[in-house]
Amino acid sequence: MISLILYVIHVAGMAGVILISADIIFNGLISKKNKRKAAVFFASFAHAQILSGLLLYVAKFNEVNHMKIGIKMLLGIVVAVLATIYSAKVKENKNPSASLAVYALVLAIIITGIAFLWH
Ligand code: HEM
Repeated sequence: MISLILYVIHVAGMAGVILISADIIFNGLISKKNKRKAAVFFASFAHAQILSGLLLYVAKFNEVNHMKIGIKMLLGIVVAVLATIYSAKVKENKNPSASLAVYALVLAIIITGIAFLWH
């Protein structure tokens, strides 16, 4: 039951990272109106993925492919670092490059591919 809840949170977080990075890249619904809000969502979703992923890893320790999770963890940390740099720059009123969101989006799609395709 706990792992099911974590799983739902984790998959929702995946959608969050992908949608918010795409929103930043295309200056969409959230980022057009409020750049700061988009930046906070970006960093929060990315960190939530690491936290929910770690908890999920502990909850499903005996069932998971450890190599796959290790690789996902490293790439997930890179996504969180990119999102944090982006949001820190927005907070300092600097204009961060949207390419940070491009790299995060590409990585998030790769991570999702690894998650679903590698068993
Ligand atoms: C941007 C980062 C991430 C994305 C987009 C992502 C995406 C996903 C998706 C879509 C799933 C469901 C597919 C499946 O069950 O195979 C999943 C499962 C899982 N993820 Fe992540 N993930 C991310 C980061 C992480 C991190 C950092 C960890 C570990 C610290 C992690 C650990 C897990 C675990 C343990 C599962 C379920 C176990 C399994 O059956 O493979 N994830 N992830």
